[in-house]
Amino acid sequence: MRIAMIGTGYVGLVSGACFSDFGHEVVCVDKDARKIELLHQGVMPIYEPGLEALVASNVKAGRLSFTTDLAEGVKGADAVFIAVGTPSRRGDGHADLSYVFAAAREIAENLTGPAVIVTKSTVPVGTGDEVERIMREVASGAGAKVVSNPEFLREGAAIEDFKRPDRVVVGTDDEEARDVMRAIYRPLSLNQSAPILFTGRRTSELIKYAANAFLAVKITFINEIADLCEEVGADVQEVARGIGLDNRIGSKFLHAGPGYGGSCFPKDTLALLKTAGDNETPLRIVEATVQVNDARKRAMGRKVIKAMGGDVRGKTIGILGLTFKPNTDDMRDAPSLSIVAALEDAGATVKAYDPEGFEQARPLLPNVEFSESAYAAADGADALVIVTEWDAFRALDLGRIKAMLKTPLLVDLRNIYPPAEAERAGLKLVGVGKPK
Ligand code: UGA
Repeated sequence: MRIAMIGTGYVGLVSGACFSDFGHEVVCVDKDARKIELLHQGVMPIYEPGLEALVASNVKAGRLSFTTDLAEGVKGADAVFIAVGTPSRRGDGHADLSYVFAAAREIAENLTGPAVIVTKSTVPVGTGDEVERIMREVASGAGAKVVSNPEFLREGAAIEDFKRPDRVVVGTDDEEARDVMRAIYRPLSLNQSAPILFTGRRTSELIKYAANAFLAVKITFINEIADLCEEVGADVQEVARGIGLDNRIGSKFLHAGPGYGGSCFPKDTLALLKTAGDNETPLRIVEATVQVNDARKRAMGRKVIKAMGGDVRGKTIGILGLTFKPNTDDMRDAPSLSIVAALEDAGATVKAYDPEGFEQARPLLPNVEFSESAYAAADGADALVIVTEWDAFRALDLGRIKAMLKTPLLVDLRNIYPPAEAERAGLKLVGVGKPK
């Protein structure tokens, strides 16, 4: 199959690289000439484990290429994937579809034959109908078919998620388009436990939002249970295990923490609420989730202040992990941003270490001093706070940390250290949802 991938963001670049690794011929297209130039040099515009090697081997094999020229990419393609961004629209929270529609128009203008047009971007219900209208209006003779094929990969585990998905969702009623999509995904050897699920296009579009919203609800639920645990002397990790062993609930996404962030959950929950509002079917559970999660991030700053005795004026706080989750350099809606703001507002000085997030974090956190290592962030600080659970923070020498801190306090917002281990090192540990 010959595939054009429009947009080399997270989803586009990972999907393009993985499709080429399956043996398809893939051309990735992006308007950003600098990005394409970097990709030509083998430099990845994002940090994602394994991506650089995957891209390099497929470029070498001649199956993967990059261009700014959409016409060249689309020429002769069996399928054209739209994987451009759909950020929250400034002001109203609706998904901004201008990039999707602009890409659709440009694709339509350059189609040379029948192709399946696939929206991989996360798009609100009905977007496929509009893309189809654009195809009919601009490229009426080309016989393009418009399919929805949402992506469920997670940053930091993107290649693994793409190659070993729980399911592939394809939204179209057109049999020929289904055949093309079957051929594209055939190398995945999807089976009963990882099926390819064919649905209508609107259903497929909604599946993506419903999935992300459900996961956001699940995280927020356990976060609220964590707050209750602290008050009643229960342990949220044991509660999560106790409920997660019930297959109907499942153990994943029950890790209590500082609130969800990232490029997807915050924007997708908002966009889903807009769709719900437009259709006069309020989704109250999702509304509550958004509110609770927003409030939680800053509340985590207050939690740190409380653990430090209530007054942090003139004190220094070391932060470990700034990105919204490990194995990414992505700072979008990261809880660290609200936590640092709350600490600085209360008069503290913050120094921080993150294995990959510095470049993106620096402009967002102008007053933070960036440390060279986890230990440097602890050195001379009045407390150390783990905000993101990078593997590099899982086996710190707590004795060394204790010796470097002015006050032996570790606030572990990801519950990666067992209290006994911290105690042995002489550190006071404050976790999330732990008995006081
Ligand atoms: C999320 C979904 O998990 C993917 O399936 C989806 O494809 C993607 O959004 C998207 O729509 O593109 P991602 O945002 O990369 O993926 O990261 P997650 O691993 O889902 O984490 C999101 C946030 O939830 C992070 O801030 C993480 O720390 C938090 N989280 C996750 C928790 O606080 N507790 C958990 O148990 C799990």
